[in-house]
Amino acid sequence: MKITSDFLIIGSGIAGLSYALTVAEHGQVSLVTKKEIATTATRLAQGGIAAVATINDSFEQHMQDTMEAGAWLPDEDIVRMVVENGPAAIEDLINWGVKFSRKQDQSYDLTREGGHSQRRIYHSKDETGKEIERALVDAVQAHPNITVYENHVAVDLITEAKVTRRRLKSDRCLGAYVLNRENDQVNVFDAPITVLATGGAGKVYFYTCNPDIATGDGIAMAYRAGATIANMEFMQFHPTTLYHPQAKSFLISEAVRGEGAILKRSDGTAFMESYHPLKDLAPRDIVARAIDNEMKIHGDDCVFLDITHKTADYIKDRFPHIYETCLSYGIDMTKEPIPVVSAAHYLCGGVKADSWGETDINHLFAIGEVACSGLHGANRLASNSLLEGVVFAKRAAERSLALVQQAIPPCPTVEPWDTGSAKDSDEEVVVAHNWDEIRLCMCNYVGIVRSDKRLVRALRRVQMIQEEITDYYWDFLITSDLIELRNITTVAELIIRCALRRKESRGLHYNINYLERDDIHFKHDTLIRKTF
Ligand code: SIN
Repeated sequence: MKITSDFLIIGSGIAGLSYALTVAEHGQVSLVTKKEIATTATRLAQGGIAAVATINDSFEQHMQDTMEAGAWLPDEDIVRMVVENGPAAIEDLINWGVKFSRKQDQSYDLTREGGHSQRRIYHSKDETGKEIERALVDAVQAHPNITVYENHVAVDLITEAKVTRRRLKSDRCLGAYVLNRENDQVNVFDAPITVLATGGAGKVYFYTCNPDIATGDGIAMAYRAGATIANMEFMQFHPTTLYHPQAKSFLISEAVRGEGAILKRSDGTAFMESYHPLKDLAPRDIVARAIDNEMKIHGDDCVFLDITHKTADYIKDRFPHIYETCLSYGIDMTKEPIPVVSAAHYLCGGVKADSWGETDINHLFAIGEVACSGLHGANRLASNSLLEGVVFAKRAAERSLALVQQAIPPCPTVEPWDTGSAKDSDEEVVVAHNWDEIRLCMCNYVGIVRSDKRLVRALRRVQMIQEEITDYYWDFLITSDLIELRNITTVAELIIRCALRRKESRGLHYNINYLERDDIHFKHDTLIRKTF
């Protein structure tokens, strides 16, 4: 089957939905999403969305905080553009129906998180993402020009070079092959404009607070199609996820520290003041490394986050979701500290995109976490990601609309998906085993603290698994598990290869063989591109 529209969007988080709502006024939109529309990382975001909002704050201060958190690697022009568009992005969300928390006097209740010098984070209690996703999904579902395809997994991008089997100096995206999980058919979705809004890749790591869908699909597909990928070494570990055998890395928002919570060792000693002047509100890379160090020195399985000095009424009102979830695991955060560890949270690298979200494959855009836009550099400032999603969605929409008004060369005929002689797999165990092996290998060798030796070891393992998957991929009919495994393996390889190239420690990339930042040789993005 072939499904044609004006705009193809892959992914249904804040970036994909915002883009859809903006372009839908001008054409037909196909929005493809792997599971149910609201099963996204956006929906799990607790903390909020940063934007300058008070007279005490300024664009310069928000920029300074972003540059400093990003270890001076962010692109200053991009940072300025995003920060200056912050208030308009908040306005857009409010117009789409998002309700942010307010104080008694009806002004917005702004919070703080690590690395922010001011209170500038709009939130909806501790479930900001859920509220944003609710409002945007309602608006998308009510729009007559948007068709949502749930349970559809993108397999690969379709490009002109691939279709015509020619080497092209400048390639163009024509759409994507997409697997319908309900009937196992692979369909062609073609469109003059394709947008990757597929989110991040936390599932590359065994311990992650990302949802199961975060398998780096957009990055892997763009890489296979020949797009430039950047800064994959910068995987952000969130310092505080709940440490409990049944909790599956439930996030304890940084806003809890923003409102006064203190990190402590098991003996009750606070430790962050020995690591950074901002103590518990230091940038995330510093807090995550401090926790890693404390656990290693003291042989502990976790550290503790203590907010018991606040009243129970305050905690229950400000953090209802975190309070209830912790309580369901037998932890009453109003009375006892919460056991926490770090887990993979946000990928600062991704598909290299310009200030309009455009990649180096014509008519292919990448927005949100899938992209490396230049905003985050070596470490993302908390609550800048939802902001990035809205700002780049709007700019990508503007650029797409300008592109479709130009005369676009006719599209060559796209052949249907060919299954060749592939048959049903009789060895699903291969997929399950490799899935776990990759994720454990990444945790053990490519985690918060790295070394060249560990990285080389990890690369060897990942490349072996890759060979096995390639054979398997061509022999057996594809399933969503196999597509995701192939993607996490590609992303793992890209993370390791970028990490091996950066011979310094900067932001989220910390290598014991090069402990210092090296501004002379490495103050630039790590770029990587497939050779054909
Ligand atoms: C959090 O609530 O701590 C997550 C916010 C973010 O990652 O920006």
